[in-house]
Order: sequence, then C-alpha cells, then structure tokens
Amino acid sequence: MSINAGIDVIVSDVVEVNSLIKRFHFKRADGQQLPAFSGGAHVVIEMEDGEQRRRTPYSLMSSPFDTTDYQVSIRRDDEGRGGSLYMHREVTTGMAMKISYPANLFPLDLRARRHLLIAGGIGITPFLAQTDQLNRLSADLELHYGVRSPELGAYLPELNASLGHRLHTYYSDEKQFIDYDELLTRQPVGTHLYVCGPSPMIDATLNSARSLGWPEAHIHFEHFAKSPPGEPFVIELANSGLSVEVGREQSMLEAIEAAGVDAPYLCRGGACGQCETKVLEYDGELLHEDHWLEDDEKARGQKIMPCVSRFRGKRLVLER
Ligand code: FES
Repeated sequence: MSINAGIDVIVSDVVEVNSLIKRFHFKRADGQQLPAFSGGAHVVIEMEDGEQRRRTPYSLMSSPFDTTDYQVSIRRDDEGRGGSLYMHREVTTGMAMKISYPANLFPLDLRARRHLLIAGGIGITPFLAQTDQLNRLSADLELHYGVRSPELGAYLPELNASLGHRLHTYYSDEKQFIDYDELLTRQPVGTHLYVCGPSPMIDATLNSARSLGWPEAHIHFEHFAKSPPGEPFVIELANSGLSVEVGREQSMLEAIEAAGVDAPYLCRGGACGQCETKVLEYDGELLHEDHWLEDDEKARGQKIMPCVSRFRGKRLVLER
C-alpha cells in the first residue's frame, strides 16, 4: 500500500465563480462524512491527465464545521504546468477522483488576541474557512483583501455578509494598495498576522512585520512554490536502482512517482519538508526552489526537495 493513502471522492458540483475561477465540490464516494479539518488546511488532488498523473495542493475553503463536502476554488493558470487547466477543462460533476487527507500547514493560533488576515487574489481561499472558524469562536479579526478588480474578487458578497466592516478591499486597477507598515503598526499587542497570496505580497508583508519587530511566532504565511519547467534531466535513484528521466513540465517528485517509487509528500510546494531527499552525488547545479531548506543547507548540496526543485548538469544521484 502507498505511504500516501488518499480518499476516493466524487465531484458533486462545479461552479463558475468568475471568468478565471471555478469552485469544485467533493463528496466521499462511499457516502460517509469526510475527515474533519481546521481553517487553513489543504488537500492534494490527484489528476489522471492522459499519461501523466498530477498531484496538486489546494486550500480547503468550505466550512470546517461541515464535512459533508470539501470545496476548493481554482484559478485558471494559462502559463502553469497544467493542473489548473486540467481541473477547468476536464473535471465535471459526477467524476470519480482521489484526494489526500487534509493537512494544515497554515493553522490559526487560537491564543491570539486578534487575527489580522491579509489575502491576495486566489490566496483568499484558506481565509474563507478560517473566517468561518473564527466567527464561530467570536474571535477578533480583520481581513484585508487585495485583488485586481471587483469582478475578479471571488466571494466578496459572502465575505461582506459574514465580516461587514471587518472586511477591507483593495482594487489594484483602481490604484488601491495595502499600506503594510501603517496596517501593522496600529495592531494591538497579541495580534497574529496571516498572509496568503502572490509572492510579492507575502514578501512585502513579512518584510514590514519583521522590520517593525513583530515576533516570528505571530507571523504565519502560506507560500507553496511551483516546480518550474526546465530542461529534461536524469536522476539515478540509489536505493531503488532506477534511472528516471524528469521531463520539461514534470517535477522530480512526479517523475519518481511515475517510475513506481513511493515517496513521501504533504504540500508538494516546497514548504513542509516531507519530501526532503539526500543528494549522494552530483555533477552540475542543484536548482533549489523550496522555502524549506536554509540557505546554508542549499549551499552544501546534500539535500533537495524534489517536489519543486530541479537540476542542471551531467549526473544526479539521490538516495531514494
Ligand atoms: S512535499 Fe512539502 S516540501 Fe516537498
């Protein structure tokens, strides 16, 4: 049995949210309740895309208090490696699929006196589940949501209804931007900060928080990297005795899995450390894309995160 057991589900609904985003509902195939989760959790969706099996993580946006279905919202990425395009083009109501058990790498810290949530674009999805959870706890929260325009702002009516004056929107087409320093300066002691969105937004928020002296334990962010496309290369897997070709649009982890080798993962976005693999030998350059390894670990070249990182060179031998 695979070390990455999953849940058989049926796509129970597909809803077009706007011109770029679709929402997918999943129910358990055996009719039972799905496992409990908390706000900020994600699942990995398996996609049988022709000869390629893709596995892509998406945040759960539905209420953690309702496990009759799971909901995720997926923004179509025409420049991506194909996961979102597959979901948008191929997935229809009634289809059987497999998803992972939920895991939470972006949990709320319920000891916080106040929760300051900052979302950009499709980064709003984990906050839909988190605001539901916080509202039920009558917790103090504020959500700041930056998006290109009201038309592309997903779930604005729902957020307005549930948060009222605690929702603050910023439309970049109208030159409205979050002033991170001003926002973070006026928070009471004991506030926890959560940010999810595009990399520049996460970086700007974290830079502001750190320069203002926010405690690291009060700063939470979700930043799943993507395995970029690149020149194909071959990995030798020492324990498995296999040579595996990694295609242009494939991650190392996908290539290892396609060769029938079971490899652990949780986020598939370079953030959790689960897929960490020992590099035994290499002649070339390790192209680290993760947020897990420290800079000195990357420089030593003894470990790699195959879910997002690549290689350029003549020879790469991994322990797997
Ligand atoms: S699976 Fe999480 S870092 Fe690779």
